[in-house]
Amino acid sequence: MAKIIAIANQKGGVGKTTTAINLCAALGETQRRVLLIDLDPQGNATTGAGVDKNAHDLTTCDVLLSTCQTKEAIVSPEHVKFDVMPSNADLTAAEVHLMSTEGRERRLAEALTQVQEDYDYIYIDCPPALNVLTLNAFVAANGVLIPMQCEYYALEGLSSLLQTIKQVQGSVNPQLAIEGILRTMFDGRNKLGHEVSNQLIEHFESRVYRTIIPRNIRLAEAPSFGQPIVYYDKSSRGSIAYLALAGEIIRREMATASARNAAQTASRDEASQSVEASTDDNKNSAESVPSDTAGRGDKPVESSSQEAPTVS
Ligand SMILES: Nc1ncnc2c1ncn2[C@@H]1O[C@H](COP(=O)(O)OP(=O)(O)O)[C@@H](O)[C@H]1O
Ligand SMILES: [Mg+2]
Repeated sequence: MAKIIAIANQKGGVGKTTTAINLCAALGETQRRVLLIDLDPQGNATTGAGVDKNAHDLTTCDVLLSTCQTKEAIVSPEHVKFDVMPSNADLTAAEVHLMSTEGRERRLAEALTQVQEDYDYIYIDCPPALNVLTLNAFVAANGVLIPMQCEYYALEGLSSLLQTIKQVQGSVNPQLAIEGILRTMFDGRNKLGHEVSNQLIEHFESRVYRTIIPRNIRLAEAPSFGQPIVYYDKSSRGSIAYLALAGEIIRREMATASARNAAQTASRDEASQSVEASTDDNKNSAESVPSDTAGRGDKPVESSSQEAPTVS
């Protein structure tokens, strides 16, 4: 079942779309089944992935308005190894329409249940606003990837983003997590960049991806050729960074899965030990505690059979 990640930051120009396209392409290179959903009426993720945003009758707009099946709005471009749900200016109309619709924030989540088994990862490129579209992404997602440019105003607005995530967690989507903070357009020569980067690590600790996306002109050029960086210039620093990010994400996932398995095995072992112990205790207490001493206080009778096994 697909892991669904919203790529969000209400600031524009921080690298959301660039990350969406290039991360999907990099994960596609590792044979993962990936879907990129363009949830921005600007349609930059669509064109950057090499899909003509006005050539498709069915787009994210139709999916949100339930005027088509989810699969019908997905295209599989030949030159990339991921699928795309394209978007264009029609999405603005959907946004307006949704405002007066019951259950408006759940539309995308409901639509994605139709395709969740078909992918390993679904990435949603959000618009630069905390609007009903972004809300749909947060309700549908397991996590949020936040691209941050390490500059003076980077942290501004972060609290309202975190607040929105918290509200969604506390209401419609308790499983929503901060998947990771990604430092983008990083310029190592800039002292301020390092300072902001350190602040992010101080605040978000291990949730900051180790991979840093450098400022790289090839990343800025690639969209005008409709090509993800791994095809446009595979050996560029930008390409290497997004491939490294894909690797980091996969390794994190594997580490989480093996920790989960270990915890499950441990709790199963503990549960069976506890059942064995309680069976022994019951036997012992029945055999060794004479009924006339039980409850007198000179030897407490433990009721270990009542104890629930601890689940870590
Ligand atoms: N690492 C990078 N190096 C150089 N230019 C970048 C980089 N990431 C993004 N850009 C450019 O910066 C601009 C904004 O990026 P974009 O991904 O569209 O941001 P957002 O989706 O957050 O608005 C685009 O012109 C893009 O090509
Ligand atoms: Mg964008």
